[in-house]
Amino acid sequence: MCGIVGYIGKKQAAPIILDGLAKLEYRGYDSAGMAIYDGEKINIKKSVGRLNVLENLTHGGETMPGVLGIGHTRWATHGAPSDENSHPHFNKDETIAVVHNGIIENYLPLKKKMMDKGYEFRSETDTEVLAHLLDYYYKGNPLEAITKVLHRVEGSYALGIMFAEHPDEIFAVRKDSPLIVGQNDDGCFIASDVPAVLKYTRTVTYVENQEIVRLRDDHMHFYTVDEEEIQKTPVTIDWDANAAEKGGYEHFMLKEMYEQPKTVNDTISPRIKENDIVIEELNMSDEDILAVKKIHIVACGSAYHTGVTAKYVIEGLARIPVEVDVASEFRYRNPILEEGALVVVISQSGETADTLAALRESQARGFKVLGIVNVVGSSIAREADNVMYTWAGPEIAVATTKAYSAQLVALYLLAMKFGKVRGKISDAEFKEMLNDLKCLPDQIELLLGNKERIQRFANRYVGAKDVFFIGRGIDYAISMEGSLKLKEISYIHSEAYAAGELKHGTISLIEEGTLVAAVSTQPALFQKTISNMVEVKARGAFVLAVTCEGNKEIEKAADYVIYIPETNPYFANSLAIIPLQLFGYYVAVGKGCDVDKPRNLAKSVTVE
Ligand code: F6R
Repeated sequence: MCGIVGYIGKKQAAPIILDGLAKLEYRGYDSAGMAIYDGEKINIKKSVGRLNVLENLTHGGETMPGVLGIGHTRWATHGAPSDENSHPHFNKDETIAVVHNGIIENYLPLKKKMMDKGYEFRSETDTEVLAHLLDYYYKGNPLEAITKVLHRVEGSYALGIMFAEHPDEIFAVRKDSPLIVGQNDDGCFIASDVPAVLKYTRTVTYVENQEIVRLRDDHMHFYTVDEEEIQKTPVTIDWDANAAEKGGYEHFMLKEMYEQPKTVNDTISPRIKENDIVIEELNMSDEDILAVKKIHIVACGSAYHTGVTAKYVIEGLARIPVEVDVASEFRYRNPILEEGALVVVISQSGETADTLAALRESQARGFKVLGIVNVVGSSIAREADNVMYTWAGPEIAVATTKAYSAQLVALYLLAMKFGKVRGKISDAEFKEMLNDLKCLPDQIELLLGNKERIQRFANRYVGAKDVFFIGRGIDYAISMEGSLKLKEISYIHSEAYAAGELKHGTISLIEEGTLVAAVSTQPALFQKTISNMVEVKARGAFVLAVTCEGNKEIEKAADYVIYIPETNPYFANSLAIIPLQLFGYYVAVGKGCDVDKPRNLAKSVTVE
C-alpha cells in the first residue's frame, strides 16, 4: 500500500528510484511519480497508471537528471487515482516536495487553516497539506520545519521530503507506516520495504515511530521529533535477493505456491528437536503454558483464515478455548480479556494497521502478545512481546499463498506444544503427529505436481459468475481461503459457507451449472458434507469435491473429485488448500487478469 523510494548519492537518482519502485509494485498502487533535483530546481513527473507509464514519461529516468530524489507509488485513499492526486506533492513555490504513505487523519481542519492563510490546493489528497505546512513552517531549517509539522499532524505516515534550498540532503520520517533507510559506498536510500534497496545494499536501518532521518550522500543522522540526535544500529539483511525475483515463473504467485514445500519445512524443522517441539521464541515455561485459560487470535484476511483453522486445532489438541477476531472488529468491540488470556496476532507483512492496533490495544490492557509474523523487523515483530517467525521469505504476489501455509504450520506447532504440555496428547499420538507434520512438504509437492489437471478444470470456469465453497469445521476455514483466493485475483464472485448453513438462504442462488466446491477432509463429517453436496446437486449445481484419498463414497455426490494424501485431519488444511490455490490462480490466468497485482488491492494494508 503506497511505496516510497528515495536516493541521494553519486549515481543518477531517477533510474534507481524507478527500479526500487518496481520492487515495491507488489504493495499495490494506482499511480506513480518522482521528484528529482536537477542542480537548480526540483522537477516532478507523475501519472496515474502503472509504473511503465512513468518510465515512458521519463525515458527510464533519463530525462530527469540529478543525484537526489524521491519517488512514490500511490494507492488511493483520499481522492481518486489521477495525475493531480499522485505524489510527489509540491509547496506553492515548488521548492519542497513530499511523498507520503499513510493517512493524515486531521487533514481537513489543517487544510482549512492553510486555505485561510491563502494556500491553494491542487489535489484532493490528505498529503498535500503536509507540503503546505512544511512551506509555512520552513524558515531555512528543514529539520525544524519537519518537527513543527509532526507536532501538528495526526495519523500514520512514512514520508520522503526534499527541499530545493538543501540540495545535499533528503529527509525521511515515520509513524505507523513502514520505512527503512540503507547505505552503500555510493549513497543513501529510503524505502518502504527492503526489496527496494536489496540490489544496492544489505545494510539497512529500521526507522522507528516518530524518528526523522537526514540523509546525505555519505552518511545519515537520526533525530527525535524534538530534534535530539539519536544513534541507531543498522542490521544486515541476509536473505537472498533472488527470493524477490520471479526466477522463470510466469507469476510471483505461481513461484510462491511452488515454494510452499520449502516454507513449510523451514517453519517446522528448526522447531522439531529430538522428537519434541521446541519454540524458544515463545518464552513460555510449561507453567506459563498451563496458566493459559483462553487464546485470542486476531488477524485480517487470509491470516484470519489461518486463525479460524487454529481455533479448531488448538481447541481440539490443547482443549483451550480460542476466540478468533478480524482485527478491525477486535479493536472496536471492547473485547473481554481476562486473566490467563494469551493474545496471538498473525500477519505476513507485520504492518497491517488493524492487526498492529489490536496488538497495542491488548498490550495497553496489560496482556502479552505473541506475534506470528513473516517479515523480520516489521512493526508487529518489533512490538509483540514474543515473535514466532514464519520462515516464508519475501512474499511478493498480493494474494498470499506461501506465507499462509507457513502460518498454518506455525499454529499446528503451537497447538501441539500446548496440547503436550497440558497432557491432552499422548506420547504415541504426539509421535504420529510429528511424523505427519514432517510429511507435509512432500505431500504439498505431490499436489503441486497435479497442476495440469486443475488447470484444465479451471479453464472451464473462466466465465463463471458465482462460485460457492462449502465445508464443515476446519473445512469451512479452508473454504473461506479457497473462496478468497478465487475472488481476489479472478474477480469472480464467490462465497464460503459452513456447509450446513447454505440451505438457510443462500441455496436460492444455486442455478443450473453453478460451481460448488465442497471441501471434505474430516472423516467424522464425511457423511454430513455429502448430504449438503446432494442438496446443491439436486438444484443443478456442478459439485467439485476436495477430499481425502480413500473417501470413494463422495464420488456418488460429486461431479469432479480432487483427492489429497492421507494426513492427520487437523493438518488437512495444508493439503486441501493447494488445489484451491491452483484453481483460483488458473481461473485468473485464463481470464487474463493481473494475477500478482489484482485491482484495488495492496499487499501491505497500512491504513485502517
Ligand atoms: C489475501 C491476503 C490478505 C492478507 C491480509 C492480512 O490473499 O493476502 O487477505 O492476508 O491483508 O495481511 P498480513 O498477513 O500482512 O497482516
